[in-house]
Amino acid sequence: MAIDKKFIDQFIKVTSKAAHESSHQVGKKNKEAADKAAVDSMRTELNKIDMTGKVVIGEGALDEAPMLYTGEVLGTKNGPDFDIAVDPVEGTNFAAYNLPGAISVLAIAEKGNLFNAPETYMEKIATGKIEKGLIDLDFPLEKNIKNLSDFKNKKISSITACILDRPRHAKIINKLKELKVNLKLITDGDVLGALYVSDPKYKVDIFLGIGGGPEGVLAASALDAYDCHFQGRFIFDNDKNVKEAKEMGITNFSKKYELNEIIKGDSIFCATGITTNEVIKGINIIGDSYVSETLITHKNSNTKKIIKKTYPI
Ligand code: FBP
Repeated sequence: MAIDKKFIDQFIKVTSKAAHESSHQVGKKNKEAADKAAVDSMRTELNKIDMTGKVVIGEGALDEAPMLYTGEVLGTKNGPDFDIAVDPVEGTNFAAYNLPGAISVLAIAEKGNLFNAPETYMEKIATGKIEKGLIDLDFPLEKNIKNLSDFKNKKISSITACILDRPRHAKIINKLKELKVNLKLITDGDVLGALYVSDPKYKVDIFLGIGGGPEGVLAASALDAYDCHFQGRFIFDNDKNVKEAKEMGITNFSKKYELNEIIKGDSIFCATGITTNEVIKGINIIGDSYVSETLITHKNSNTKKIIKKTYPI
């Protein structure tokens, strides 16, 4: 079954409004306030949509996050059953310090088709469309880079890898330097980091490293529409993570998930800019209106575009 195209505009409105509300907090050095503004708005707007939408990736468990908690059912309950993944502000630091890259994100799939990701880290790897079996989380880094360079018919010194700049990645970063791969180090925001592989204009050939699991699922939802390659493996390294995973029915803690195990069937992905970045512009307030830019993908209609909208304040 396909998700009706009529929902595209409705979900664009959800992330646009959330981004606008959050934009009032940009530069105010308050991550929580930037997040809360977007969370409240997203919840209100999702509740107006004719659907039964279950949050499978939200702001945490019911006891920790009363708004947009995982398991919360949103919408008028008068419409199709959807699974919803939200990240009202992805890049809360960027919003708090008025830096490029804060976005408001959601992904929708039909019920049962969006992976219910635990709140853990995920080891990720993503590239544009490649031949099956060329790039794999289980391959040594050198092999992945060599295979990618052969496949793209590009010298290794012309390959660019995007990775979160974190001490945990020191070994990978050093190896990439040794191989003479170009680096695009990001300080936060690995949904956008992964999305860079979707279009050659962003000049990123491979995205890799460890970041948030929920962010991995969100990125995978968009990458699916672009026919990109993505694999992820959750990292369960403490008792709380293990307990949570067991409660979610995960039994194989070292499983490598392929893209089509994370997101299945039709889906819609929306990311609206809060602050301007390489993919989309941030919220622009003009008089009594604001202009938003949203990257939208809809798998079944093969829609992948940036949509500019003007809404009254
Ligand atoms: P927040 O917007 O929740 O602050 O997340 C930002 C982010 O950079 C994500 O994009 C990324 O997946 C995660 O944090 C990485 O986590 P850490 O900062 O712990 O390395």
